[in-house]
Amino acid sequence: MVNEKDYEWKVSAAGRVNIIGEHVDYCGGKVFPAALDMRNTVYLRRNGTNKINLSWTTLPDKVSLDIDKLDSYRNLKYGNYQAGSALLWQKAGHKLVGCDMVQDCTVPFGSGLSSSAAIEVSTIAALAVAAGEEFDPVAVALTAQSAEREYAGVNCGIMDQYASACGKRGNAMLLDCNTLACEYVPVQIGDCSIVIINCNKPHSLVESKYNERRAETDSALEILAKPAGISCLAELTPELFEKHGKLLSGKVYDRVKHVVNECERVRKAAVAMKAGDMVALGKLLNESHASLRDLYEVTGKELDALAAAAQSHPACLGSRMTGGGFGGCTISIVKTAKAEDFKKHTAEKYKAATGYNATCYETEIGDGITVEKL
Ligand code: GLA
Repeated sequence: MVNEKDYEWKVSAAGRVNIIGEHVDYCGGKVFPAALDMRNTVYLRRNGTNKINLSWTTLPDKVSLDIDKLDSYRNLKYGNYQAGSALLWQKAGHKLVGCDMVQDCTVPFGSGLSSSAAIEVSTIAALAVAAGEEFDPVAVALTAQSAEREYAGVNCGIMDQYASACGKRGNAMLLDCNTLACEYVPVQIGDCSIVIINCNKPHSLVESKYNERRAETDSALEILAKPAGISCLAELTPELFEKHGKLLSGKVYDRVKHVVNECERVRKAAVAMKAGDMVALGKLLNESHASLRDLYEVTGKELDALAAAAQSHPACLGSRMTGGGFGGCTISIVKTAKAEDFKKHTAEKYKAATGYNATCYETEIGDGITVEKL
């Protein structure tokens, strides 16, 4: 437990769930995530030294980071995300002041709900607060993304850090990852609920094929840019893909087909959400999962079994993997009245198929960065 009286501020940032728009953010596509009340909270006090001292509510570890040597902590088991975030914020020209930080993370690690983005974004916001600096949440998100790329080695898009920093309670975010224009769309889903279930096969994007998928889409863009007249893959309309897709070979063709169709699904999903049409939204979720499984190949047998178990319940309108994939969570749209039965059914069927226990989370759509003076 943290004694709030011992600290000066409490700064937090959100985990996120992505409703739809998977593996398109780094192709300049639109995504549709929401920030969650599962968060990383930093309790913070200045300490007058040149050290950032880290401790955790959930871990015995204690780590001291020297502000002048932030480059040297890449191999830490815990604390590397904080070190990377501090380093990239410093490199972006911001002043760091020594402080003690207790980190309290309620986003399960490896769940695909962006614990790493929540840690990076809240740590940077906390450092800005400690230095007495006003910050722009978008600038914090962009620096957090650089930390993930340059320090943690995952060549990620902007979706997670943006959602973590800029989320708004009760709203999903229709984010154009090319321009960073963001439209907040109220999540009004009537007699339905969003259910998030962890398949409990931990995922690690560093070890996964995440960077490989990025390289495949980059290579496709190189081939298509001139003939199709596009500057990012998200600009490839179904018509352009029909015309120029034959320039791509085998797997790369499949990857791009996913991107083109997923971008279409995001457009349709936003329309369905605004119209309160949960049947249409659910169908898009199912289609997205199938595409991530068959064309983009980022699901794996656990997520496939979990999505199939969910989809087989009569009160489930749609279910798909959410986040980077290769493990982590599914998101399902379910009739609220039957949600408990749905969870039981899905967990049992999943266990029978894989031997893993599933975990269902109770959480709400929350805000991005919050700062509280203690
Ligand atoms: C991870 C990355 C994001 C995004 C998703 C897939 O969460 O951090 O940038 O690419 O995977 O949609």
